[in-house]
Amino acid sequence: TTTIAVGMLGLGTVGSGVVMRLTQAARKIEQTQGLRLRLAAVAVHHLNAPRAVTLPIGTRLTDSIEAVVTDPKIQLVIEVMGTLKTAERAIVTALQHGKSVITANKDLMATAGEQLTALAQRQHCDLFYEASVAGGIPILRTLTDSYATDQVTAVAGIINGTANYILSAMTAGKTYSQALAAAQRAGYAEADPTNDVGGLDTTYKLMILSQFAFGQQLTIDQLAPQGITQLTAEACQQAAQAGWQVKLLAQAQRFGDQLACRVAPVAVPQTTALSQVKGVQNGVAVTSQAIGDSLYTGPGAGSTATANSVLNDVIVAAQQLVRQTCGRAFNQNHADLTVTRLAD
Ligand code: NDP
Ligand code: HSE
Repeated sequence: TTTIAVGMLGLGTVGSGVVMRLTQAARKIEQTQGLRLRLAAVAVHHLNAPRAVTLPIGTRLTDSIEAVVTDPKIQLVIEVMGTLKTAERAIVTALQHGKSVITANKDLMATAGEQLTALAQRQHCDLFYEASVAGGIPILRTLTDSYATDQVTAVAGIINGTANYILSAMTAGKTYSQALAAAQRAGYAEADPTNDVGGLDTTYKLMILSQFAFGQQLTIDQLAPQGITQLTAEACQQAAQAGWQVKLLAQAQRFGDQLACRVAPVAVPQTTALSQVKGVQNGVAVTSQAIGDSLYTGPGAGSTATANSVLNDVIVAAQQLVRQTCGRAFNQNHADLTVTRLAD
């Protein structure tokens, strides 16, 4: 058995889930992977805040990110604190210190993923971010591995758990604010839920999905997202009575050298599988030349399911550390398509 020293930034919804999953899965990880993952240190913002989990004996709690990402004993860093600049600085420093990094930060990976991936490769480190899209659904590894020889022609996703939870709850008779408050209590929403309901979180995730599905980098301007803040419970209920479900959809469809995209609320016929993806569930429909139509569904947010995605990345990165094979880019797809807006 090889012991890998892990540092973590953040001990909120996802970080607490990682601590729990690390404990629950320790024996299986040792038996099946030959690995012991030792959580050496965790950085938080408020050192004395109450915590949902007790840290393992020997794990250091600190309010210094720097102390974690520069600790020479730590080999692998998990970033689950969110934020843009602080997280970027932390990840850059960790990579510069030769540590592989696992992150759930879609805001950062959508906007700075290319530069960070290039840095990771130069440093012979891994940088994985499965949890950044669709929480517990292993969609990025599926697109990487299972579509390696195939060509994806379309993706359509419900990829924000909070928005889908709110739309489902409003359709069932709850008000917008009741539904948002419940999503926040459950730990689905971002610390500031503006991006969940405004469509930006979905946009970041579509930007990452597009890199994996088509090799195409998208910009926020190209997507000009619309969110769900203008929708009322009455509108959702009227749509349902007429045979539709209102969904916040992320869509990208390839036509030759063009990629037509949008992020917007769409009334989806109740006969389709995506319309049945409800509550915090996410669904990503993938169409490809060889496989045809597939739908991947599962929990799109939440502590345990998201932590599971983080931990799976940790295992892959830890194995590569043991084999000294770190530094292969998570996504190898590169294309230069013309991006247009998908017609309404
Ligand atoms: P939380 O707000 O629950 O937790 C954030 C944690 O990061 C807290 O422990 C906080 O410390 C710490 N933190 C924040 N800023 C700093 C800082 N400057 N220095 C040190 N520590 C800091 O967030 P989540 O766990 O919900 O989300 C974390 C990340 O995972 C985000 O990028 C999010 O988008 C992503 N994600 C979240 C999912 C979910 O279901 N919640 C699903 C998929 C991805 P303190 O507790 O002391 O305030
Ligand atoms: N706030 C996000 C959501 C978390 O609701 O989908 C998962 O990325």
